[in-house]
Amino acid sequence: MTGDGQSASDSPPLPLAGRTCVVTGASSGIGKAACVAFARIGATVIAVCRDPARGAAARADIAAAAADGLPALELADLSSQRQVRALAGRLAVLDRIDVLINNAGSVHGERSVTEDGIERTFAVNHLAPFLLTHLLRPALQATAPARVVTVASTAHRGAVLDLGDVNAERRYLPMLSYANSKLANILFTRELARRLAGSDVTANCLHPGTVRTRFGQSGSHALRLGLVIARPFLPSAASGARTVVYLASSPDVDGRSGGYYVNRRLRQPSRSARDDDIAGSLSRHDGTAIRAPERTPLRQCPRDGEVDKGESHAWDLPGALDRSVGLTGPGRGLDLVSHDSLLR
Ligand SMILES: NC(=O)c1ccc[n+]([C@@H]2O[C@H](COP(=O)([O-])OP(=O)(O)OC[C@H]3O[C@@H](n4cnc5c(N)ncnc54)[C@H](OP(=O)(O)O)[C@@H]3O)[C@@H](O)[C@H]2O)c1
Repeated sequence: MTGDGQSASDSPPLPLAGRTCVVTGASSGIGKAACVAFARIGATVIAVCRDPARGAAARADIAAAAADGLPALELADLSSQRQVRALAGRLAVLDRIDVLINNAGSVHGERSVTEDGIERTFAVNHLAPFLLTHLLRPALQATAPARVVTVASTAHRGAVLDLGDVNAERRYLPMLSYANSKLANILFTRELARRLAGSDVTANCLHPGTVRTRFGQSGSHALRLGLVIARPFLPSAASGARTVVYLASSPDVDGRSGGYYVNRRLRQPSRSARDDDIAGSLSRHDGTAIRAPERTPLRQCPRDGEVDKGESHAWDLPGALDRSVGLTGPGRGLDLVSHDSLLR
């Protein structure tokens, strides 16, 4: 390993001079660290942040790393589909978008719904990247070769995704909703890669490692307490950004699509995350029309419990959920709306 944790066998990142990288969740943690890394290798950085003050502070930090020029700052609360659409409208007029990093994500100790009536974790972590990516697809394809990179998590292995209750109306457990949204990130990446085949736009996702960021601050009391204890021992946000930067810039992954990476290596995600039927089913749900008078299990995935030894989990993967990957689904009486309907 080299000093920055890069394996000797990795190709160095390609300089990104002249390339435009859009990064969501750029105000802190992995997103900000990725912006700094992109600025250092010459990219034009568009930092998408929610909070104006945190955004301005992050912009200054990124600018300090940039060879020249201030990164652009775009403000959007990604829990709002209206704001995602407005953001996409502003980004779509850029000359080019070479890289889209879907990084913004959160976990919430209490269930709440967005202005669109959708459970917040699912809305921010999954629906926002889904919507933003598809709205930017023409711009990405016009720039191709281009790359979409989505920050998932090893926590997906704890998912028990109930497509009949993606809005978590029947049951809300913070880390379960988080795990489900991260499984959705991987399924989305698979489906996107399939849809983009032949377009020279690739889609990959990753687990960044368990790293020291602001993640979890809106989580449950137990999660926050665990983080306080674990924090001094966790690697930096910059180390979490390495696989992001690798997937965005390395020639090693030229033309490679649909993969889940950990520590810059292709890894097998959970069995549910490799199921193209589930990926297709998920893409036919948007969580807004789940008003079932009755629900019956559609399918139950075997609990695979597999954990890739290359992934760190610690607090990111609650042990209790580790062995419970599964999926249930909607039954009769559901009025399901396609994710694709969001795009109209
Ligand atoms: N840290 C880890 O160990 C770890 C492990 C696995 C996966 N991940 C994933 O890594 C990604 C980045 O997280 P992080 O660890 O860097 O945490 P972080 O420091 O909390 O950063 C999260 C970023 O997402 C933004 N964000 C949250 N909700 C948003 C919303 N509604 N609209 C717009 N932006 C929003 C935050 O903005 P504000 O500043 O406004 O809150 C912040 O910029 C997440 O997808 C997370 O699931 C992290």
